[in-house]
Amino acid sequence: MRSDSELLDIPVAPFELTERRRRNQELNIAEYRDRAVRLESRPLALFVELTQNCNLSCPMCRFGEKYQKEWNMTEELYERLADELFPSVHLVDIRGWGESTMLPLFGRHVARALSYRVKLRLVTNGQINRPPVWDMMMRAHGLVTISVDAADPELFTKLRGGGTIPRLERTLAELVSARDRHGVPRDHLSFNTVASLDNLHDLANVVSLAARMDVPTVVIHPMVASLDDPSHLRHDLDRTQEAYAAAAERGRREGVVVQLGAAPDPSLAIPEMVRRPACMHPWSYAYVRYDGSVGFCDHLLGSDDYTLGNLRDSTFEEIWNGERWQRLRQAHTTGDIPDQFAPCRYTYAQRYIDFEYLVHPDREAGLVSNQTHREVTFRRDPREAPSVPWVPAADGPEALIPLDAVTGRMREARD
Ligand SMILES: C[S@@+](CC[C@H](N)C(=O)[O-])C[C@H]1O[C@@H](n2cnc3c(N)ncnc32)[C@H](O)[C@@H]1O
Ligand code: SF4
Repeated sequence: MRSDSELLDIPVAPFELTERRRRNQELNIAEYRDRAVRLESRPLALFVELTQNCNLSCPMCRFGEKYQKEWNMTEELYERLADELFPSVHLVDIRGWGESTMLPLFGRHVARALSYRVKLRLVTNGQINRPPVWDMMMRAHGLVTISVDAADPELFTKLRGGGTIPRLERTLAELVSARDRHGVPRDHLSFNTVASLDNLHDLANVVSLAARMDVPTVVIHPMVASLDDPSHLRHDLDRTQEAYAAAAERGRREGVVVQLGAAPDPSLAIPEMVRRPACMHPWSYAYVRYDGSVGFCDHLLGSDDYTLGNLRDSTFEEIWNGERWQRLRQAHTTGDIPDQFAPCRYTYAQRYIDFEYLVHPDREAGLVSNQTHREVTFRRDPREAPSVPWVPAADGPEALIPLDAVTGRMREARD
């Protein structure tokens, strides 16, 4: 039986903008602006995958693999990251393609990160309630995002692979109480909702659930899936547009910000808001998988196809400024994204700003929500805005797709 109660006595404090962090941020933003491919600065946001094990088996994500101890990051690797990178990063996000809260050592990892006074962020399925950890995170004004794909209990259990609404509500009540006890801004708690044809009818109710539980923000992301998947939003754009409008309206009535992490489809994207080249992740983000492989984007956590080196064989600096990472930055500068990084094309077709503004403050202007836009979607002929597959077809051409082909045409159509 795990006990987190000793965590209550550990002193922690909110983010500290040390001189080292301030200088690193200034330099990193300047290097991004100048599209440098070799960087003097270090990442501003670090995603640490503590585990790839999960207590649930959500159908859009995985198929209930058995727990494997080898899928947990070793303490040695975590310590190495903490020593080397936590002093210069602003944001440490301790989730990966798994569920961090199921680790017995989770509380200790949180305490270790907070000893560096970073902005600590967690994305969790909210099924494991660890009140002392929540208390510690909220004392340090951390950010917790809870994944909620339905308000209807049966649908929730189906989409969240065995999770339940009562367990979610218990965790949420504890988090909200810790947030308010420690005077943390309300928006440090938010929902992440994955939209698909399976839950469009319940989307507005998820917003009401957030209102009822005192969570002020719901960020909706379209389900990433193959186009063959019958639940893919592309198969019913009318219903998708109506459901997003209804969720936005419900949020306005009930005081919830309904933010779109990405447009539901390229043909429903607000052209001038789609992430403008170049995406800052290859300059400012780094993620480390449980096994030490290093990548550049929080959206590409699951697979080592998208990593650029491994800390078992190289130093972080060798990977961060290695030939592969430099080529990737170059590709984002010119817009010719190689097939290996095809998901980046999806970004340029339909992603908006999510929480990048936590490290690049000017990115806040790229948010799309029911507060910033009266209509949260903009409908165009889907033939003009083709779906951009996450993974290129096996027999597809090797050709590079210039970004303009995707975003340029979209913006022209709007002008
Ligand atoms: C992979 S999970 C890991 C963290 C934690 N286990 C959770 O569920 O919140 C991170 C986020 O990715 C979302 N996600 C999983 N599969 C997805 C998919 N196919 N398309 C879009 N988002 C997905 C989850 O709902 C969750 O909000
Ligand atoms: S979405 Fe999260 S909770 Fe669901 S299976 Fe994936 S990692 Fe686990």
